[in-house]
Amino acid sequence: MKLLFVASECAPFVKTGGLADVIGAVPKALAGMGAEVRVLLPAYPALADLLATGTEVRSFSDFFGGSARMVAATAQGIDLLLLDAPHLYDRPGTIYLDPNGHDHWDNHIRFGALSMAGADVALDGVGEWKPDLVNAHDWQAGLVAAYLRQSGRPAPPLVTTIHNIAFQGLFGPEVMEPLGLDPALFDTDGIEYYGRVGFLKAGLIYSDAITTVSPTYARELLTPEFGMGLQGVLEARQAQLTGILNGIDLDAWNPDTDPALSTTYGVRSLGRKAQNREDLRTRFALSPEADGPLFCVISRLTGQKGLDMLLDCLPGLVARGAQLALLGSGDAVLEKGFIEAAARHPGNVGTIIGYDETLSHQMQGGADAILIPSRFEPCGLTQLYGLRYGTLPVVARTGGLADTVIDANDAALQAECATGVQFAPITTAGLDQAIARTCELFAQPKVWAAMQRRAMRHPVGWEQSARAYLDLFTGLIKGVQ
Ligand code: ADP
Ligand code: GLC
Repeated sequence: MKLLFVASECAPFVKTGGLADVIGAVPKALAGMGAEVRVLLPAYPALADLLATGTEVRSFSDFFGGSARMVAATAQGIDLLLLDAPHLYDRPGTIYLDPNGHDHWDNHIRFGALSMAGADVALDGVGEWKPDLVNAHDWQAGLVAAYLRQSGRPAPPLVTTIHNIAFQGLFGPEVMEPLGLDPALFDTDGIEYYGRVGFLKAGLIYSDAITTVSPTYARELLTPEFGMGLQGVLEARQAQLTGILNGIDLDAWNPDTDPALSTTYGVRSLGRKAQNREDLRTRFALSPEADGPLFCVISRLTGQKGLDMLLDCLPGLVARGAQLALLGSGDAVLEKGFIEAAARHPGNVGTIIGYDETLSHQMQGGADAILIPSRFEPCGLTQLYGLRYGTLPVVARTGGLADTVIDANDAALQAECATGVQFAPITTAGLDQAIARTCELFAQPKVWAAMQRRAMRHPVGWEQSARAYLDLFTGLIKGVQ
């Protein structure tokens, strides 16, 4: 089975969040089951070295205002198709934002072009290679569906995956023409969304199937609270919507071999985790003498992640003898809040603003627990890394967090199946109680260590979910043959 993935990020090459981790891991898991995946990505500056190692497979003289080419390259076991269009992707800032922190002014063109290139490979392949199915990820690849639709040509089945419906790719109607979109598609039954063009909506309307990244989020998406305006569209397509839980790359995230850790450890050598905790305390200038758990947070700092509630809980957390190490960046108010909190609680709260992949591994290695108080969370990956590293997840009961962590309530403790702490309602009081419960569990070393071992054995790899994707893809491919 030949599969084309179209996405805007792919770990370890270019990453701003969990989407990259998933796009970097699924192809390997599917390859192990006999599928052949190629990932189409924009050739951002971070990929320049890779580009130089590749082979040109296609060129376009005028591709949305400049010349472009497609380059095939293989790295870290992943087959990539890189869309090299310097006028669109070779620029300062992040892959989504300009140096002033605003969306690049032409993101509609940048990701419309990615989608157009995806549709092009879907229809004509590259060389001998023709995909049997296309999987487009998030709004950045949403227009693959629109371009395939308006081509009127027979195309392989298309699956659109929603990683986060909060990002919909909405633009004014004036983008229709520069994107070369057929005006007939601008309709409420098409890509029009309250007078605007909806990239993700295009994917939801014109795909053969829709997936999202956890079963609970698939259900939540049908409600006004979580569907964010697209719940009606999804309700109409409910029969085509499936939630398939994300897994993690078990090689990249393995405490037994992780090169980022000063001391590696496994389920039978949990004692060795302590050295990583000392390292972490030193790195975050935390006192070595705390009695309570060392919590960590590794997160984008946005409203989604509920960390404003954590700020309110910090006095209680510190009063219970616990500590917090936070790594994150994003919202300026939250960044300032956590910098001030570190100053207010010296030795007990440490904040590092930034994005640091190595440090994120060291935090999973060294912390006792990881806090994820998200208001919504399609899947979430940091709780899965936490499970694998025996860093117990303390999570809000929503989306993929609800599907992956087993709350340490009395029944679960007695049945010996608890792997973390869940809380609801998702409020400051709820979070505060969850922190209190975690501190109580931590004070019982035997109970805590048993939970850690169980967490570390909890299956978090891709095996089962990759199988679910393959079954879905196989059904769709057979359906068109
Ligand atoms: P989301 O994609 O919504 O941000 P996920 O939990 O799915 O949430 O994935 C987040 C990914 O980004 C994880 O791999 C996490 O370790 C990583 N991450 C988030 N913030 C940072 C940061 N400041 N530094 C390093 N890694 C980070
Ligand atoms: C999005 C979601 C996150 C999910 C990730 C990968 O960024 O916010 O919950 O884990 O995509 O699917």
